[in-house]
Amino acid sequence: MTKYNWGIIGPGNIARKFTAGLRQLENANLYSVVSRSKERAERFAQEYGYKKSYDDYRMFASDPQLDIVYIATPHSHHHEHSLLCLRNGKAVLCEKPFALNSIQVEEMINTARENKLFLMEALWPPFQPYYIKAAELISASYTGKVRYIISKFAFRAPYDPQARTFNPDLAGGSLLDIGIYPVIDTLRFLGKPDNIETSAVIAPTGVDESVGVLFGYNDGRGASLYSSFVNDGGICTDILCENANIILSRSRDYVQYLNVKYTNGEAEGYSYKPPAMGFHYEAAEVMKCLDEGLKESPVVPLSFSSDLINTLDRIRRKAGIIYPQEK
Ligand SMILES: NC(=O)c1ccc[n+]([C@@H]2O[C@H](COP(=O)([O-])OP(=O)(O)OC[C@H]3O[C@@H](n4cnc5c(N)ncnc54)[C@H](OP(=O)(O)O)[C@@H]3O)[C@@H](O)[C@H]2O)c1
Repeated sequence: MTKYNWGIIGPGNIARKFTAGLRQLENANLYSVVSRSKERAERFAQEYGYKKSYDDYRMFASDPQLDIVYIATPHSHHHEHSLLCLRNGKAVLCEKPFALNSIQVEEMINTARENKLFLMEALWPPFQPYYIKAAELISASYTGKVRYIISKFAFRAPYDPQARTFNPDLAGGSLLDIGIYPVIDTLRFLGKPDNIETSAVIAPTGVDESVGVLFGYNDGRGASLYSSFVNDGGICTDILCENANIILSRSRDYVQYLNVKYTNGEAEGYSYKPPAMGFHYEAAEVMKCLDEGLKESPVVPLSFSSDLINTLDRIRRKAGIIYPQEK
């Protein structure tokens, strides 16, 4: 069994959860962490069991013992940090959204391909049992074709202009942070839309506090998507099919629920609480791909990440959401 040395950039909220995932995996070594602050890096390394800590991103990335980097900084920095690691020969698993816009994502993908390195966007849903089960039901034709999707991810986040959620310099706003999930679900189960309409509510900082989006498809299918930092809407995707309705929902602590109601009156449902909030699946996928010599994941291929960021760009153009870095 090949063991891989993992390093983390951005020891914050999600890095802690992801570390719990790594701990589930025998072939993952908790190797290094880098922060902008020496003290924070040392504290994180000590608390979570990483061997080395850095306060210099270049020294971290050029460590020859480091194999895979998990990028867990705010979205505004994913592009810069991914390129740094790829240019130092590391495999990269980068948090969602992959970057700010399509231009940045294409540069990341090109750099990975030119250097023959593995790159993947850290998307949680595609690896989860409830999601895999829903995809199986649809592809086995138990449900008939998907006709319409209603998907929302909404919760109240305290208003703080400096926080990652509302700060435009950190690419804040509900769409890129949580509205990405309804977009992921709709792309996964309906594909790229032909038309997009939006209705956004803009916070005083200039980022979207809520966005409603309508996807139209020329063959009559459609989707309604919603994200918000000011309404408690929960996390739920209804997939309306010819012969069934599939309801995928999850709690904010990552317990997942799948309910299927068939038009013939039958129903099935289950709930699942994955270990480590399900973050080990994506880490395991990276190492499986590396074991097999793959440069991208068949579960989250780079083409999906391209489609995802292109769609997010289209929504932002319609809604007039522009970040300071893009002006
Ligand atoms: N997959 C999921 O379920 C999930 C859930 C939540 C978040 N995420 C994604 O993970 C990323 C990080 O989210 P988070 O909630 O973990 O963020 P966070 O805790 O606010 O920040 C992560 C860390 O990034 C570092 N950082 C580096 N440059 C920074 C800068 N210029 N400003 C602020 N922080 C900076 C900070 O560490 P130092 O100050 O120590 O350098 C900070 O602790 C986001 O892109 C988000 O979309 C994914």
